[in-house]
Formats: sequence, structure tokens, C-alpha cells
Amino acid sequence: MCGIVGYIGHRDAYPVIIKGLQRLEYRGYDSAGIALFDGEQINLSKTKGKVDDLKARSEKEISLAGHLGIGHTRWATHGVPNDCNAHPHTSNSGNLVIIHNGIIENYEAIKKELVKRGYSFESDTDTEVLVNLIEEVKSKENVKLGKAVQIALNQVVGAYAIAVFDRSKPDEIVVAKLGSPLAIGVGDDEFFIASDASPFIEYTNNAVYLEDEEMAVVRLGKEIKLRKIKDDSIAYPLVQELQLNLEAIEKGGYEHFMLKEIYEQPHAIKDTFRGRLRADQGLIRMAGIDQNLERFLNANRIIIVACGTSWHAGLVAEYIFEDLARIPVEVEYASEFRYRNPVISDKDVLIAISQSGETADTLAAIKLAKERGAFVFGVCNVVGSSIARETHAGAYTHAGPEIGVASTKAFTTQITVLTLMALKLAKASGTLSESRLHEMLSELEGIPAKVEKALESNALIEIISDVYKDSTNCLYLGRGYNFPVALEGALKLKEISYIHAEGYPAAEMKHGPIALIDEQMPVIVIATRRGHYEKVVSNIQEIKSRKGKIIAIVTEGDEQVRDLADHVIEVPESSESLSPLLTTIPLQLLSYHIAVMRGCNVDQPRNLAKSVTVE
Ligand code: F6R
Repeated sequence: MCGIVGYIGHRDAYPVIIKGLQRLEYRGYDSAGIALFDGEQINLSKTKGKVDDLKARSEKEISLAGHLGIGHTRWATHGVPNDCNAHPHTSNSGNLVIIHNGIIENYEAIKKELVKRGYSFESDTDTEVLVNLIEEVKSKENVKLGKAVQIALNQVVGAYAIAVFDRSKPDEIVVAKLGSPLAIGVGDDEFFIASDASPFIEYTNNAVYLEDEEMAVVRLGKEIKLRKIKDDSIAYPLVQELQLNLEAIEKGGYEHFMLKEIYEQPHAIKDTFRGRLRADQGLIRMAGIDQNLERFLNANRIIIVACGTSWHAGLVAEYIFEDLARIPVEVEYASEFRYRNPVISDKDVLIAISQSGETADTLAAIKLAKERGAFVFGVCNVVGSSIARETHAGAYTHAGPEIGVASTKAFTTQITVLTLMALKLAKASGTLSESRLHEMLSELEGIPAKVEKALESNALIEIISDVYKDSTNCLYLGRGYNFPVALEGALKLKEISYIHAEGYPAAEMKHGPIALIDEQMPVIVIATRRGHYEKVVSNIQEIKSRKGKIIAIVTEGDEQVRDLADHVIEVPESSESLSPLLTTIPLQLLSYHIAVMRGCNVDQPRNLAKSVTVE
């Protein structure tokens, strides 16, 4: 939530920051702002709306000169999205300027104290309180900016990634991190600051990722030194070489990132099992499992925690692990798990699933499980993310950057990793015969080609989307492995087209939702051949008798459902366990086209943000 960008060096800061903010806009897009410092003048521009609105306004209203600058794209937490609440925020003297991603929980109490000392506030934000607290500390203690930031941060409770500069120091920016991500790009006597590396990838491949409770004074002509906010100890930073390439974070000819990412799935799934899967030898290599095999095999149970789409991948994993590896699994919303005093023992294995690796609730659930002795394994996409670092071991999905706010390739690659894990454990514990294991591994290897085939229905799905684009409600039904896919299909439609949708296990329909069905209600039913097919066909009959409109996802060549449904979309034949990797594809395309036809902002749906770093 919220993206921050900063620059100090020999270039003009403005274009670096604007382009950087555009790349980070997935993190929040209700308002944006920029502050540029030319050594004498601080020029500030802020606006409600998107980075493009900021660009238009700043190019009209302020001088764009300056080799130091900071910018922010916001997802509002405190205070409505408007010009005034947008960042950067300035201290009362006008000398300190800050951008902040996170939440200062005790800001009200600090604000009261500052008001008593004569400070006044223009915005409703916690960030304006923080910058004035830093100013108060700086003048009261008569210290430099870095020290003032450190003392102030020891007084706040909450989460932050901040960048702040001082009018009297045109060659430095002070940064600090707790709970929200912050990377420093290290160039040739120039530095870039950002929530992730995408804003500076074309300028440098070298980056330093701050750990929680670390800060740095980024000063031209000096090497970066990291300081612990609590005890002042110094750490020498690990400069990492970035693997990201520019192409991966651009649209590459597609109209939207979401469509690009849907089409990237065959490749992304291949990347997920590249180097891990040797189907011909019946082998799966996963270092995180190999090194901790006993923990998994002796586990009482696996607890999976995640949020949103990642939680749906967790539900698919429940079927996979129980079915193939015969290990009991519980799947929990991270936000519920962390607050319900769960019973956890050192015989439990917790798997945390997260695309961003930054989701606050998932991170908190991990910390709780670790405190209580569980072994914690992470399934993340973003390399080096907080969750990847906080877990005992893990496996990356290697999906590449996912920029569309609605998760697509993250979901299918998470399922791929979880399937590899379950198959590996099934092999180690002998719950699956060698021949079945070989069969499944070679089927998995063939999945990218089948996903490619499933994508061929795009034109048909566009036609179907046109019929249902004005619906106000939709029902998604599936059974077994495809029940979580129904939930995911409904979530995709809701979040990008703003049509109300619900996912249900097909058999549950008659326990309530059937009352909703009439000729206005589109019902999307996953009715593939190898998943309780006959039962689902009966459910389809029930919908048909109540005049519901049926869009069925079926296996290639299906005749029976074709006779009953209003529309059928075919996916290639597969085993039930691997079918979610295929049945998900048409549901993603359906919501994509409906959202486009309704004129919705597909990549940046209202009120959402890509990484939810607040609870
Ligand atoms: C939906 C979506 C969200 C995320 C959720 C968890 O399309 O993207 O529901 O899945 O916010 O995010 P991660 O996986 O980053 O922890």
C-alpha cells in the first residue's frame, strides 16, 4: 500500500520520480505527490487521483528543476484521498519533507503533544504528525536529521518506510523501514529509493534492501551505512544484484497488465517448475523441502495461512496435500488466524502463501506461529520480500512481476509450487505409487501447453462477456478441487468489474443460493469430466429448471453439458488434481472482458492496492 520513490544524484530528479511512481502505482492510486529540491527552493505538487494527474499538474504549476526529489502514490489509510492528504508532507517550518508508506498507530497522542507545543496541521494524516515530530526532536535536541529521525522513530508505534530530506542538507535523504518495504538502488554517485526495485531497474542493477528497524543516511559521495533504529549498532549493507528486467515490468503490446499476465501463464508455470521437475526420472528438486523433509513428514498437520487469491490457492492445496500426500491440512485467513489464539505446536508446519510477500496479516500470522514453535514455510513470488525473509524455508513461484492488481499468474504458479510440494512429500512418504507419481509429473509438465490451448477460447469468451456485461449478480459453482476455483472466479469478477458475485460449492446451492436463481442470474459452473461430473450435471439441471443462465466450463468434446448450458467454454482434458490450472483461465478472461466492456480500470480497480501492508 502506497509507493515511495526518491532520487539524489546528477540526473534531473523529476523524470526518474514520475516514471518510478507510474511503476509503483499498483501499490496505491488514490492520490500522488512530488517534492523537488533545487538546492534553494522546494517545489511541491500534490493531487487527488493518479500519477498522470500529478504529472499534468506539476508540469503546469511548479519548477521541475532539482537533482533531489521524493514522490509518493497513495492508498489512503488516515484521511480521505484529497490534495491535502496526499504526500509529501512538510514540517511546520517548511524545512523537512517526508514520504511515508505505513501507519503510525499512536499518531493521535503525538499530535496532541505537538499541538500543545504550538504545532499546527493541515492534513488528517499520521505522516504530517511524524514529520513534525522529527522537526521537534531536531530542534529540541539540537541534532542532525539522521539522529532526529532515529529518536522520533523510537517514539512511534506502527509500520513505516519513510524518506525524508532537510532543506539545509541538499546532498542527503534519510530513510528508515519497519514493516513496509524499502530498497535503495546504488548507482554511480547517485542513489534511488523505492518500495521495490522497479523504479530504478534501468539505472542500476545494484540494490540494498533494508531490514526491519534499519535506517540509513543516503549521502552523495558516501557509501551507505545501515543503522539499527533501536540500539544504534551499524550494519554493513549487502548489495544485491537484481535479476529483474525492464521488459517484465512493461505491457509489451497488451492493452492491460492483467491481460499480459493471463497470457504469460504458460511461461510462468514453466518457470515455476524449471530446474525442479524431472518427470522422466520421477524427481522433484526443492531445496526448502529436502532440507526439512522430516519436519514435513512428521508434522501433525499443515496449517496454510494467506489472504485473498493466495488463500484460494491454499484451499486448492488442501485438496492436493490431503489427496496425494495424506497430510491433514487446515486453511485459514491470516487475518483470523492471528487474532484467535490458535492452538499451535512444534509438530505443526505452517505454509504462508503470498504473491507480494508483504501482506501484513500473513506476516503477523507467521510471527505468531514461529513464536509458538511451528516450522514456517513460505510460498512467495517477490524475491527477498518480508515474508520470504521471515520464514524458516520456502519456495519461490518465479512468476515474474505481477503488476495488474487482480492476481492471475500468481494464483496458477502458487498452485504449481504447492502441487510440486505435495508430490514430493507423497513420494517421500510412499502415499502415491511410483507409476501414479510418474504419470502426474509428466502431466504437470504438459500443463503449460494445455493452458496455451485454454487461452484459445479468448474470442468466444469475449462474445459471452458481451451478453452478461450488464448483469448485477453472478453465481460461480464448482466441486472438489474446483470449488476454490469458483471462489477465485467470483473474486476476480467482483474486484475488477464491480459486479456482485459469489462462489459456492455446487452442492451447497440448494441450501440457500438457489433462491437467487431466475432468468436474470448467470451461473458459471465448472463441470469438467473428472471431477464429480455427474453430480455437477445434476446441479446444472437444477439451475436450468429455474431458468438460470448457464455458462459451463467443460472438458473438450463434452456433449452432455453442451445440451443443457447456454454457453460452454472448453478446457483440455486433465486429472482432477491439475484441473484448477486450466479451469481458472476462462474465468480470468471472462472477468477481464466484462470489466473492459464496463469501462472499468482493469489494472487498478477502485479502492484496491496490490500489496496490503496494513491490517
Ligand atoms: C485478488 C488479489 C488479492 C491478493 C491478496 C493477498 O486478485 O490480488 O486478494 O491475493 O491481497 O496478497 P498476497 O498474495 O500478495 O499476500
